[in-house]
Amino acid sequence: MTSNPGGTWPHAPGFIEGDRPRIVTSRFEYEDSYTLQRYLATDGYSGLRAALGRPATEVHDEVKNATVLGRGGAGFPAGNKWGLTPQGVWPRYLVVNGDESEPGTYKDRLLMERDPHQLIEGCLIACYAAGLSQCFLYVRGEMALAQERIATALNEAYAAGYVGKNILGSKFSVDIVLHWGAGAYVVGEETALIESLEGNRGMPRLKPPYFPAAIGLYGQPTIVNNVETLANLPWLLRNGAEAYTAIGTATSPGTRMVAVSGHVKRPGVYEIINGITTFRDLLYGEEFCQGIRNGNELKAFVPGGGSAPWFTPDQLDLPFEASQVGPAGSMLGSGAIMVMDSTTDIPRAALTLTRFYAHESCGKCTPCREGGTWLERILSRVVDGKGTDADLDQMFEVGESICPGAFPHASNEKLGITAVPFPYRMNTICFVGPSAYAPVHSALTLFREEFEARVTKRTLIPVTAVAQ
Ligand SMILES: Cc1cc2nc3c(=O)[nH]c(=O)nc-3n(C[C@H](O)[C@H](O)[C@H](O)COP(=O)(O)O)c2cc1C
Ligand code: SF4
Repeated sequence: MTSNPGGTWPHAPGFIEGDRPRIVTSRFEYEDSYTLQRYLATDGYSGLRAALGRPATEVHDEVKNATVLGRGGAGFPAGNKWGLTPQGVWPRYLVVNGDESEPGTYKDRLLMERDPHQLIEGCLIACYAAGLSQCFLYVRGEMALAQERIATALNEAYAAGYVGKNILGSKFSVDIVLHWGAGAYVVGEETALIESLEGNRGMPRLKPPYFPAAIGLYGQPTIVNNVETLANLPWLLRNGAEAYTAIGTATSPGTRMVAVSGHVKRPGVYEIINGITTFRDLLYGEEFCQGIRNGNELKAFVPGGGSAPWFTPDQLDLPFEASQVGPAGSMLGSGAIMVMDSTTDIPRAALTLTRFYAHESCGKCTPCREGGTWLERILSRVVDGKGTDADLDQMFEVGESICPGAFPHASNEKLGITAVPFPYRMNTICFVGPSAYAPVHSALTLFREEFEARVTKRTLIPVTAVAQ
Protein backbone atom coordinates (compact mmCIF):
# COMPACT_ATOMS: atom_id res chain seq x y z
CA MET A 1 0.00 0.00 0.00
CA THR A 2 1.32 3.40 -0.93
CA SER A 3 1.97 5.54 2.10
CA ASN A 4 0.44 8.94 2.63
CA PRO A 5 2.84 11.39 0.96
CA GLY A 6 1.39 14.35 2.82
CA GLY A 7 2.24 13.13 6.33
CA THR A 8 -0.76 12.67 8.57
CA TRP A 9 -4.33 12.67 7.36
CA PRO A 10 -6.59 15.41 8.65
CA HIS A 11 -8.57 14.31 11.68
CA ALA A 12 -12.20 14.19 10.76
CA PRO A 13 -15.23 12.01 11.22
CA GLY A 14 -14.92 9.17 8.75
CA PHE A 15 -11.19 9.12 9.18
CA ILE A 16 -9.72 6.07 10.83
CA GLU A 17 -6.34 6.81 12.36
CA GLY A 18 -3.50 4.70 11.02
CA ASP A 19 -5.73 3.54 8.25
CA ARG A 20 -6.81 4.93 4.91
CA PRO A 21 -9.38 7.72 5.00
CA ARG A 22 -12.97 6.66 4.44
CA ILE A 23 -15.10 9.36 2.96
CA VAL A 24 -18.03 7.31 1.70
CA THR A 25 -17.70 3.90 3.37
CA SER A 26 -17.17 4.94 7.01
CA ARG A 27 -20.46 3.35 8.16
CA PHE A 28 -20.10 0.09 6.26
CA GLU A 29 -18.80 -1.68 9.34
CA TYR A 30 -22.11 -1.23 11.20
CA GLU A 31 -24.83 -3.85 10.84
CA ASP A 32 -27.50 -1.13 10.96
CA SER A 33 -25.60 1.32 8.75
CA TYR A 34 -28.71 2.00 6.65
CA THR A 35 -30.94 3.24 9.49
CA LEU A 36 -31.60 6.86 10.39
CA GLN A 37 -30.66 6.10 13.99
CA ARG A 38 -27.16 4.97 13.01
CA TYR A 39 -26.82 7.77 10.52
CA LEU A 40 -27.59 10.43 13.10
CA ALA A 41 -25.26 8.79 15.61
CA THR A 42 -22.41 9.09 13.11
CA ASP A 43 -22.65 12.76 12.07
CA GLY A 44 -25.53 12.15 9.68
CA TYR A 45 -27.21 15.23 8.20
CA SER A 46 -24.66 17.57 9.83
CA GLY A 47 -23.19 18.29 6.38
CA LEU A 48 -26.63 19.44 5.25
CA ARG A 49 -27.03 21.52 8.40
CA ALA A 50 -23.64 23.13 7.73
CA ALA A 51 -24.60 23.78 4.10
CA LEU A 52 -27.93 25.40 4.97
CA GLY A 53 -26.12 27.76 7.35
CA ARG A 54 -24.20 29.22 4.41
CA PRO A 55 -25.25 30.94 1.18
CA ALA A 56 -25.83 28.45 -1.65
CA THR A 57 -23.14 30.08 -3.80
CA GLU A 58 -20.58 29.48 -1.05
CA VAL A 59 -21.53 25.81 -0.84
CA HIS A 60 -21.25 25.54 -4.62
CA ASP A 61 -17.78 27.12 -4.44
CA GLU A 62 -16.75 24.66 -1.72
CA VAL A 63 -17.63 21.76 -4.04
CA LYS A 64 -15.83 23.45 -6.96
CA ASN A 65 -12.74 24.05 -4.84
CA ALA A 66 -12.68 20.41 -3.80
CA THR A 67 -12.73 19.26 -7.46
CA VAL A 68 -15.10 16.38 -6.76
CA LEU A 69 -14.65 14.35 -9.93
CA GLY A 70 -17.75 12.58 -11.24
CA ARG A 71 -17.58 8.89 -10.40
CA GLY A 72 -19.97 7.71 -13.14
CA GLY A 73 -17.29 7.28 -15.78
CA ALA A 74 -16.29 10.52 -17.44
CA GLY A 75 -14.72 12.13 -14.35
CA PHE A 76 -16.17 15.61 -14.96
CA PRO A 77 -15.95 17.80 -11.82
CA ALA A 78 -19.38 18.05 -10.16
CA GLY A 79 -19.07 21.72 -9.14
CA ASN A 80 -18.25 22.74 -12.72
CA LYS A 81 -21.14 20.71 -14.11
CA TRP A 82 -23.60 22.42 -11.77
CA GLY A 83 -22.43 25.78 -13.13
CA LEU A 84 -23.52 24.85 -16.66
CA THR A 85 -27.25 25.19 -16.05
CA PRO A 86 -28.83 28.37 -17.47
CA GLN A 87 -29.83 30.84 -14.76
CA GLY A 88 -33.45 31.70 -14.05
CA VAL A 89 -35.02 28.71 -15.83
CA TRP A 90 -37.46 26.79 -13.61
CA PRO A 91 -38.06 24.07 -12.70
CA ARG A 92 -34.62 22.48 -12.78
CA TYR A 93 -33.81 18.99 -11.70
CA LEU A 94 -31.23 16.73 -10.14
CA VAL A 95 -31.28 13.20 -11.52
CA VAL A 96 -29.29 10.61 -9.60
CA ASN A 97 -27.83 7.90 -11.78
CA GLY A 98 -28.21 4.68 -9.79
CA ASP A 99 -28.53 2.46 -12.83
CA GLU A 100 -25.11 0.86 -12.32
CA SER A 101 -24.88 -2.05 -14.78
CA GLU A 102 -21.39 -1.85 -16.25
CA PRO A 103 -19.86 -5.35 -16.13
CA GLY A 104 -17.74 -5.68 -12.99
CA THR A 105 -19.17 -2.59 -11.32
CA TYR A 106 -21.04 -2.92 -8.03
CA LYS A 107 -19.92 -0.01 -5.88
CA ASP A 108 -23.01 2.23 -6.18
CA ARG A 109 -25.23 -0.69 -5.20
CA LEU A 110 -23.33 -1.00 -1.91
CA LEU A 111 -23.60 2.73 -1.27
CA MET A 112 -27.35 2.60 -1.83
CA GLU A 113 -27.87 -0.54 0.24
CA ARG A 114 -25.58 0.27 3.13
CA ASP A 115 -25.81 4.03 3.46
CA PRO A 116 -28.94 5.40 1.78
CA HIS A 117 -29.13 8.43 4.08
CA GLN A 118 -25.66 9.52 2.98
CA LEU A 119 -26.89 9.55 -0.62
CA ILE A 120 -30.06 11.42 0.34
CA GLU A 121 -28.01 14.00 2.23
CA GLY A 122 -25.70 14.35 -0.80
CA CYS A 123 -28.72 14.96 -3.04
CA LEU A 124 -30.05 17.65 -0.72
CA ILE A 125 -26.69 19.43 -0.60
CA ALA A 126 -26.42 19.31 -4.40
CA CYS A 127 -29.95 20.68 -4.84
CA TYR A 128 -29.24 23.49 -2.41
CA ALA A 129 -25.87 24.43 -3.90
CA ALA A 130 -26.90 24.18 -7.55
CA GLY A 131 -30.39 25.65 -7.06
CA LEU A 132 -32.31 22.57 -8.20
CA SER A 133 -35.97 22.28 -7.37
CA GLN A 134 -36.60 18.53 -7.42
CA CYS A 135 -34.60 15.33 -7.30
CA PHE A 136 -35.25 12.03 -9.04
CA LEU A 137 -33.37 9.04 -7.76
CA TYR A 138 -33.22 6.45 -10.54
CA VAL A 139 -32.26 3.02 -9.24
CA ARG A 140 -31.56 0.01 -11.42
CA GLY A 141 -34.50 -2.39 -11.65
CA GLU A 142 -32.66 -5.45 -10.37
CA MET A 143 -31.44 -3.79 -7.17
CA ALA A 144 -34.39 -4.68 -4.98
CA LEU A 145 -32.58 -4.28 -1.66
CA ALA A 146 -31.21 -0.86 -2.63
CA GLN A 147 -34.68 0.28 -3.64
CA GLU A 148 -36.21 -1.00 -0.43
CA ARG A 149 -33.59 0.66 1.76
CA ILE A 150 -33.77 3.97 -0.09
CA ALA A 151 -37.57 3.94 0.12
CA THR A 152 -37.41 3.32 3.88
CA ALA A 153 -34.71 5.95 4.34
CA LEU A 154 -36.73 8.49 2.36
CA ASN A 155 -39.78 7.87 4.51
CA GLU A 156 -37.65 8.32 7.64
CA ALA A 157 -36.03 11.48 6.27
CA TYR A 158 -39.39 13.01 5.26
CA ALA A 159 -40.84 12.24 8.69
CA ALA A 160 -37.83 13.80 10.45
CA GLY A 161 -37.93 16.98 8.34
CA TYR A 162 -34.75 16.41 6.34
CA VAL A 163 -36.59 16.21 3.02
CA GLY A 164 -39.68 18.09 1.85
CA LYS A 165 -40.85 21.57 2.79
CA ASN A 166 -38.71 24.02 4.80
CA ILE A 167 -35.95 21.55 5.50
CA LEU A 168 -34.57 21.88 9.03
CA GLY A 169 -36.70 25.01 9.48
CA SER A 170 -35.03 26.81 6.57
CA LYS A 171 -36.55 28.30 3.42
CA PHE A 172 -35.09 25.46 1.41
CA SER A 173 -37.63 22.89 0.17
CA VAL A 174 -37.03 19.95 -2.11
CA ASP A 175 -38.76 16.67 -2.90
CA ILE A 176 -36.96 13.46 -3.73
CA VAL A 177 -38.72 10.91 -5.93
CA LEU A 178 -37.51 7.32 -6.05
CA HIS A 179 -37.85 5.74 -9.49
CA TRP A 180 -37.24 2.09 -10.27
CA GLY A 181 -35.59 1.29 -13.57
CA ALA A 182 -36.48 -1.74 -15.63
CA GLY A 183 -32.96 -3.10 -16.03
CA ALA A 184 -31.32 -1.86 -19.23
CA TYR A 185 -27.60 -1.17 -19.31
CA VAL A 186 -27.87 1.67 -21.81
CA VAL A 187 -30.15 3.58 -19.47
CA GLY A 188 -27.03 4.32 -17.40
CA GLU A 189 -26.18 6.77 -20.19
CA GLU A 190 -27.61 10.02 -18.89
CA THR A 191 -29.84 11.00 -21.80
CA ALA A 192 -31.26 7.47 -22.08
CA LEU A 193 -31.94 7.62 -18.36
CA ILE A 194 -33.82 10.89 -18.84
CA GLU A 195 -35.84 9.33 -21.67
CA SER A 196 -36.68 6.40 -19.40
CA LEU A 197 -37.70 8.72 -16.56
CA GLU A 198 -40.02 10.51 -18.97
CA GLY A 199 -41.68 7.17 -19.70
CA ASN A 200 -40.11 6.65 -23.12
CA ARG A 201 -37.92 3.82 -24.40
CA GLY A 202 -34.47 4.17 -22.86
CA MET A 203 -32.53 5.30 -25.91
CA PRO A 204 -29.76 7.93 -25.78
CA ARG A 205 -30.41 11.37 -27.25
CA LEU A 206 -28.06 12.97 -29.72
CA LYS A 207 -25.71 15.40 -27.99
CA PRO A 208 -24.50 17.93 -28.87
CA PRO A 209 -26.37 20.21 -29.44
CA TYR A 210 -28.32 19.77 -26.20
CA PHE A 211 -26.69 18.55 -23.02
CA PRO A 212 -28.91 17.77 -20.05
CA ALA A 213 -27.58 20.73 -18.07
CA ALA A 214 -29.31 22.98 -20.63
CA ILE A 215 -32.17 20.79 -21.89
CA GLY A 216 -32.73 17.63 -19.88
CA LEU A 217 -35.65 16.06 -18.07
CA TYR A 218 -38.98 17.36 -19.47
CA GLY A 219 -36.91 19.83 -21.49
CA GLN A 220 -35.68 21.59 -18.35
CA PRO A 221 -32.13 22.17 -17.04
CA THR A 222 -31.02 18.90 -15.42
CA ILE A 223 -27.94 17.79 -13.57
CA VAL A 224 -27.24 14.08 -13.77
CA ASN A 225 -24.82 12.83 -11.14
CA ASN A 226 -23.58 9.44 -10.10
CA VAL A 227 -24.43 7.94 -6.69
CA GLU A 228 -20.83 7.95 -5.44
CA THR A 229 -20.26 11.53 -6.62
CA LEU A 230 -23.15 12.71 -4.45
CA ALA A 231 -22.21 10.46 -1.53
CA ASN A 232 -18.98 12.49 -1.20
CA LEU A 233 -20.82 15.70 -0.38
CA PRO A 234 -21.84 15.18 3.28
CA TRP A 235 -18.20 14.53 4.29
CA LEU A 236 -17.04 17.45 2.17
CA LEU A 237 -19.49 19.87 3.78
CA ARG A 238 -18.57 18.66 7.26
CA ASN A 239 -14.83 18.89 6.72
CA GLY A 240 -14.28 21.43 3.96
CA ALA A 241 -12.54 21.46 0.61
CA GLU A 242 -9.11 21.79 2.19
CA ALA A 243 -9.47 18.51 4.08
CA TYR A 244 -10.83 16.85 0.94
CA THR A 245 -8.00 17.99 -1.31
CA ALA A 246 -5.44 16.99 1.32
CA ILE A 247 -6.28 13.41 0.33
CA GLY A 248 -5.12 12.11 -3.04
CA THR A 249 -3.54 14.35 -5.67
CA ALA A 250 -4.32 17.81 -7.00
CA THR A 251 -5.95 16.42 -10.15
CA SER A 252 -7.63 13.44 -8.44
CA PRO A 253 -8.46 14.46 -4.89
CA GLY A 254 -10.27 12.42 -2.28
CA THR A 255 -10.92 8.73 -2.46
CA ARG A 256 -12.78 6.53 -4.90
CA MET A 257 -14.55 3.22 -4.64
CA VAL A 258 -13.25 0.40 -6.77
CA ALA A 259 -14.97 -2.95 -7.28
CA VAL A 260 -12.54 -5.78 -7.93
CA SER A 261 -13.73 -9.08 -9.37
CA GLY A 262 -12.16 -12.11 -10.96
CA HIS A 263 -9.07 -14.08 -10.03
CA VAL A 264 -7.81 -12.32 -6.91
CA LYS A 265 -7.76 -13.84 -3.44
CA ARG A 266 -10.04 -11.20 -1.95
CA PRO A 267 -12.42 -9.66 -4.47
CA GLY A 268 -14.62 -6.84 -3.19
CA VAL A 269 -15.25 -3.12 -3.10
CA TYR A 270 -12.48 -0.97 -1.65
CA GLU A 271 -12.30 2.73 -0.96
CA ILE A 272 -8.85 3.73 -2.15
CA ILE A 273 -6.97 7.00 -2.22
CA ASN A 274 -7.40 8.67 -5.56
CA GLY A 275 -4.45 9.48 -7.77
CA ILE A 276 -1.92 7.70 -5.57
CA THR A 277 -2.96 4.09 -5.10
CA THR A 278 -1.62 1.94 -7.93
CA PHE A 279 -3.19 -1.12 -9.54
CA ARG A 280 -0.42 -3.15 -7.92
CA ASP A 281 -1.29 -1.76 -4.48
CA LEU A 282 -4.89 -2.76 -4.98
CA LEU A 283 -4.42 -6.21 -6.50
CA TYR A 284 -1.52 -7.32 -4.29
CA GLY A 285 -1.82 -5.19 -1.13
CA GLU A 286 -2.52 -7.07 2.15
CA GLU A 287 -5.37 -4.73 3.06
CA PHE A 288 -6.93 -5.12 -0.38
CA CYS A 289 -7.01 -8.10 -2.74
CA GLN A 290 -3.91 -9.96 -1.44
CA GLY A 291 -2.70 -11.18 -4.81
CA ILE A 292 -3.77 -13.62 -7.50
CA ARG A 293 -5.67 -16.78 -6.51
CA ASN A 294 -3.92 -20.16 -6.19
CA GLY A 295 -0.51 -18.54 -6.61
CA ASN A 296 -1.17 -18.06 -10.33
CA GLU A 297 0.34 -15.35 -12.48
CA LEU A 298 -1.63 -12.29 -13.55
CA LYS A 299 -2.36 -12.40 -17.26
CA ALA A 300 -4.41 -9.24 -17.86
CA PHE A 301 -6.86 -6.91 -16.16
CA VAL A 302 -9.63 -4.59 -17.23
CA PRO A 303 -8.95 -1.33 -15.37
CA GLY A 304 -12.22 0.61 -15.62
CA GLY A 305 -15.27 -1.57 -16.16
CA GLY A 306 -16.07 -3.90 -19.05
CA SER A 307 -15.87 -1.10 -21.65
CA ALA A 308 -12.24 -0.28 -20.91
CA PRO A 309 -9.32 -1.51 -23.03
CA TRP A 310 -7.31 -4.11 -21.13
CA PHE A 311 -4.01 -3.74 -19.32
CA THR A 312 -1.24 -6.30 -18.80
CA PRO A 313 1.07 -6.82 -15.78
CA ASP A 314 3.59 -4.25 -17.04
CA GLN A 315 0.97 -1.56 -16.36
CA LEU A 316 0.41 -2.53 -12.72
CA ASP A 317 2.35 0.44 -11.39
CA LEU A 318 0.04 3.03 -12.94
CA PRO A 319 -1.89 4.96 -10.28
CA PHE A 320 -5.64 5.62 -10.26
CA GLU A 321 -5.10 8.87 -12.10
CA ALA A 322 -7.01 9.53 -15.31
CA SER A 323 -4.22 11.67 -16.74
CA GLN A 324 -1.88 8.65 -16.62
CA VAL A 325 -4.28 5.83 -17.40
CA GLY A 326 -5.71 7.65 -20.47
CA PRO A 327 -2.39 8.09 -22.29
CA ALA A 328 -1.53 4.48 -21.40
CA GLY A 329 -4.48 3.48 -23.58
CA SER A 330 -7.39 2.86 -21.24
CA MET A 331 -9.64 4.56 -18.70
CA LEU A 332 -10.67 4.41 -15.07
CA GLY A 333 -14.29 4.51 -16.16
CA SER A 334 -16.80 3.16 -13.70
CA GLY A 335 -14.33 2.07 -10.99
CA ALA A 336 -14.24 -1.66 -11.64
CA ILE A 337 -11.32 -3.96 -12.19
CA MET A 338 -11.69 -7.44 -13.64
CA VAL A 339 -8.69 -9.66 -13.07
CA MET A 340 -7.69 -12.55 -15.32
CA ASP A 341 -5.05 -15.02 -14.21
CA SER A 342 -2.86 -17.33 -16.28
CA THR A 343 -5.64 -19.95 -16.59
CA THR A 344 -8.00 -17.55 -18.39
CA ASP A 345 -9.35 -18.53 -21.78
CA ILE A 346 -8.87 -15.10 -23.35
CA PRO A 347 -11.08 -15.45 -26.47
CA ARG A 348 -13.91 -16.73 -24.27
CA ALA A 349 -13.44 -13.88 -21.78
CA ALA A 350 -13.64 -11.36 -24.63
CA LEU A 351 -16.75 -13.08 -25.95
CA THR A 352 -18.48 -12.83 -22.57
CA LEU A 353 -18.02 -9.07 -22.54
CA THR A 354 -18.82 -8.48 -26.22
CA ARG A 355 -21.96 -10.59 -25.95
CA PHE A 356 -23.14 -8.36 -23.12
CA TYR A 357 -22.72 -5.12 -25.07
CA ALA A 358 -24.17 -6.59 -28.27
CA HIS A 359 -27.20 -7.73 -26.29
CA GLU A 360 -27.60 -4.34 -24.59
CA SER A 361 -27.45 -2.29 -27.81
CA CYS A 362 -30.63 -0.23 -28.00
CA GLY A 363 -30.52 -0.45 -31.79
CA LYS A 364 -30.77 3.27 -32.48
CA CYS A 365 -27.58 3.46 -34.56
CA THR A 366 -26.48 0.98 -37.19
CA PRO A 367 -22.76 0.55 -36.40
CA CYS A 368 -23.59 -0.52 -32.85
CA ARG A 369 -26.69 -2.57 -33.64
CA GLU A 370 -25.12 -4.45 -36.55
CA GLY A 371 -21.44 -4.21 -35.58
CA GLY A 372 -21.92 -5.54 -32.07
CA THR A 373 -23.97 -8.45 -33.36
CA TRP A 374 -21.39 -9.28 -36.02
CA LEU A 375 -18.54 -9.12 -33.55
CA GLU A 376 -20.37 -11.51 -31.26
CA ARG A 377 -21.18 -13.92 -34.11
CA ILE A 378 -17.67 -14.02 -35.50
CA LEU A 379 -16.08 -14.33 -32.07
CA SER A 380 -18.50 -17.12 -31.09
CA ARG A 381 -17.49 -19.02 -34.18
CA VAL A 382 -13.81 -18.59 -33.32
CA VAL A 383 -14.32 -19.66 -29.70
CA ASP A 384 -16.25 -22.73 -30.86
CA GLY A 385 -13.31 -23.73 -33.07
CA LYS A 386 -15.26 -23.08 -36.27
CA GLY A 387 -13.52 -19.88 -37.35
CA THR A 388 -10.85 -19.22 -39.93
CA ASP A 389 -7.87 -16.88 -39.79
CA ALA A 390 -9.77 -14.44 -42.00
CA ASP A 391 -12.24 -14.00 -39.13
CA LEU A 392 -9.58 -12.38 -37.00
CA ASP A 393 -8.96 -9.48 -39.39
CA GLN A 394 -12.66 -9.31 -40.09
CA MET A 395 -13.24 -8.45 -36.44
CA PHE A 396 -10.85 -5.48 -36.74
CA GLU A 397 -12.73 -4.34 -39.81
CA VAL A 398 -16.09 -4.51 -38.07
CA GLY A 399 -14.59 -2.65 -35.09
CA GLU A 400 -13.30 0.08 -37.38
CA SER A 401 -16.83 0.66 -38.61
CA ILE A 402 -17.91 1.33 -35.01
CA CYS A 403 -15.04 3.52 -33.85
CA PRO A 404 -12.63 4.33 -36.67
CA GLY A 405 -9.00 4.55 -35.60
CA ALA A 406 -9.95 4.17 -31.97
CA PHE A 407 -7.41 1.56 -31.04
CA PRO A 408 -3.83 1.10 -32.18
CA HIS A 409 -3.41 -1.92 -34.43
CA ALA A 410 -1.96 -2.93 -37.76
CA SER A 411 -4.63 -1.34 -39.93
CA ASN A 412 -4.31 1.93 -38.00
CA GLU A 413 -0.60 1.95 -38.67
CA LYS A 414 -1.33 1.67 -42.35
CA LEU A 415 -3.53 4.73 -41.97
CA GLY A 416 -0.73 6.56 -40.14
CA ILE A 417 -2.61 6.51 -36.80
CA THR A 418 -0.28 5.76 -33.91
CA ALA A 419 -1.77 7.50 -30.89
CA VAL A 420 -4.65 6.17 -28.82
CA PRO A 421 -7.20 8.95 -28.86
CA PHE A 422 -9.60 9.11 -25.95
CA PRO A 423 -12.53 9.65 -25.97
CA TYR A 424 -12.69 7.46 -29.04
CA ARG A 425 -13.79 8.69 -32.40
CA MET A 426 -16.99 6.82 -32.83
CA ASN A 427 -19.72 6.38 -35.39
CA THR A 428 -22.30 5.79 -32.70
CA ILE A 429 -24.46 7.98 -30.50
CA CYS A 430 -23.17 6.56 -27.25
CA PHE A 431 -20.37 4.40 -25.89
CA VAL A 432 -22.12 1.03 -26.06
CA GLY A 433 -20.95 0.40 -29.63
CA PRO A 434 -17.24 0.99 -28.87
CA SER A 435 -17.68 -1.07 -25.70
CA ALA A 436 -18.57 -4.13 -27.78
CA TYR A 437 -15.33 -3.72 -29.70
CA ALA A 438 -12.97 -2.84 -26.82
CA PRO A 439 -12.69 -6.40 -25.40
CA VAL A 440 -12.30 -7.94 -28.86
CA HIS A 441 -9.65 -5.46 -29.79
CA SER A 442 -7.69 -5.81 -26.55
CA ALA A 443 -7.82 -9.59 -26.55
CA LEU A 444 -6.91 -9.89 -30.20
CA THR A 445 -4.08 -7.39 -30.04
CA LEU A 446 -2.55 -8.66 -26.80
CA PHE A 447 -3.14 -12.40 -27.16
CA ARG A 448 -3.48 -13.06 -30.88
CA GLU A 449 -1.77 -16.43 -30.58
CA GLU A 450 -4.67 -17.75 -28.49
CA PHE A 451 -7.06 -16.91 -31.30
CA GLU A 452 -4.77 -18.32 -33.98
CA ALA A 453 -4.54 -21.60 -32.09
CA ARG A 454 -8.31 -21.94 -32.42
CA VAL A 455 -8.86 -21.09 -36.07
CA THR A 456 -8.34 -23.04 -39.25
CA LYS A 457 -5.84 -21.60 -41.66
CA ARG A 458 -7.62 -20.75 -44.84
CA THR A 459 -5.75 -21.98 -47.90
CA LEU A 460 -6.61 -19.87 -50.89
CA ILE A 461 -6.85 -21.93 -54.05
CA PRO A 462 -5.47 -19.94 -57.00
CA VAL A 463 -8.17 -19.10 -59.54
CA THR A 464 -6.15 -20.71 -62.33
CA ALA A 465 -6.07 -23.98 -60.40
CA VAL A 466 -9.87 -23.86 -60.05
CA ALA A 467 -10.24 -23.20 -63.79
CA GLN A 468 -8.20 -26.28 -64.71
C1 LIG B 1 -23.50 3.22 -21.89
C2 LIG B 1 -23.28 4.05 -20.70
C3 LIG B 1 -23.63 3.58 -19.44
C4 LIG B 1 -23.45 4.37 -18.31
N1 LIG B 1 -23.80 3.85 -17.10
C5 LIG B 1 -23.67 4.66 -16.01
C6 LIG B 1 -24.11 4.18 -14.74
O1 LIG B 1 -24.57 3.05 -14.59
N2 LIG B 1 -23.97 5.01 -13.67
C7 LIG B 1 -23.47 6.29 -13.82
O2 LIG B 1 -23.41 7.04 -12.84
N3 LIG B 1 -23.06 6.74 -15.00
C8 LIG B 1 -23.16 5.97 -16.09
N4 LIG B 1 -22.78 6.46 -17.30
C9 LIG B 1 -22.29 7.87 -17.37
C10 LIG B 1 -23.48 8.84 -17.40
O3 LIG B 1 -23.87 9.06 -18.75
C11 LIG B 1 -23.14 10.19 -16.78
O4 LIG B 1 -21.98 10.68 -17.37
C12 LIG B 1 -22.94 10.13 -15.27
O5 LIG B 1 -24.05 9.58 -14.63
C13 LIG B 1 -22.69 11.53 -14.74
O6 LIG B 1 -22.44 11.48 -13.36
P1 LIG B 1 -21.09 12.04 -12.75
O7 LIG B 1 -20.79 13.33 -13.45
O8 LIG B 1 -21.40 12.23 -11.31
O9 LIG B 1 -20.04 11.01 -13.01
C14 LIG B 1 -22.91 5.68 -18.45
C15 LIG B 1 -22.55 6.16 -19.72
C16 LIG B 1 -22.72 5.36 -20.83
C17 LIG B 1 -22.32 5.89 -22.17
S1 SF4 C 1 -24.36 3.16 -29.57
FE1 SF4 C 1 -25.72 1.40 -29.39
S2 SF4 C 1 -26.73 1.66 -27.43
FE2 SF4 C 1 -25.81 3.65 -27.98
S3 SF4 C 1 -27.43 4.73 -29.06
FE3 SF4 C 1 -26.30 3.66 -30.62
S4 SF4 C 1 -27.38 1.69 -30.86
FE4 SF4 C 1 -28.07 2.59 -28.94
